[in-house]
Amino acid sequence: MEKIVILTGAGISAESGLGTFRDEDGLWAQHAIEDVATPEGFARDPARVHRFYNARRAQAARARPNAAHAALARLQAEHPGEVAIITQNVDGLHEAAGAHDVIHMHGRLSGALCATCGHRWPAPVEMAPDDPCPACGARATRPDVVWFGEIPHGLDAIWDHLAEAGIFAAIGTSGQVYPAAAFAEEAAQAGAQTVELNLEPSANAYRFTQARHGPASQVVPAWVEEILARDAQ
Ligand code: OAD
Repeated sequence: MEKIVILTGAGISAESGLGTFRDEDGLWAQHAIEDVATPEGFARDPARVHRFYNARRAQAARARPNAAHAALARLQAEHPGEVAIITQNVDGLHEAAGAHDVIHMHGRLSGALCATCGHRWPAPVEMAPDDPCPACGARATRPDVVWFGEIPHGLDAIWDHLAEAGIFAAIGTSGQVYPAAAFAEEAAQAGAQTVELNLEPSANAYRFTQARHGPASQVVPAWVEEILARDAQ
């Protein structure tokens, strides 16, 4: 049975109450990317960057997975082929819904990282710039998230998944950030069918052979039902 590779973005968590980035009232309308999502911004004002991620961590801790997260966990459990989930999201809602082996290409809010020695540990609810690293003692604690100008996590595994994909689906992502925006083409070149599931056609829509438009909590469960019904035939 074919392998299904799924890329998710902020749109899948929108109905769980977490803000997207580029919608009208999104995070990038309220904060400058260069201040809170670049290594240079962190070097200039680490306290500001921690405040931004502390607020997002607190919000994510209150959020619950929605029907779209649940449907993907069900697909992973019931589809006879492999289902690989790659997310750009730093929340833990896929795992909270029961998904496994999720590749967090942009890191996670639940992690802390020492900018000096690279040690990783579970983030406390509130992080501060002078929190010492438990391994080396340096006071260079940062959130374990990937910023602009840094290399996303898991790329080798991702390219391997894309090369083997029979179906590639992008869910709730605007397709404006690379390398994730190039995954559809990569999968298509490997022979995958490609489908975009998004509230509306994204800037990347032309790269997909199929589309399902609407809120993720509706279009994702319907798409999963279709695949599982076909598997059962
Ligand atoms: P964006 O905010 O760029 O895009 C969110 C997409 O979700 C848009 O295309 C919306 O139309 C769609 N959307 C909104 N609500 C939806 C809903 N209820 N159901 C389905 N779709 C919905 O977020 P991403 O594409 O995830 O990176 O952004 C990619 C990366 O840019 C993020 O990981 C982050 C950001 O800068 C870093 O911080 C490094």
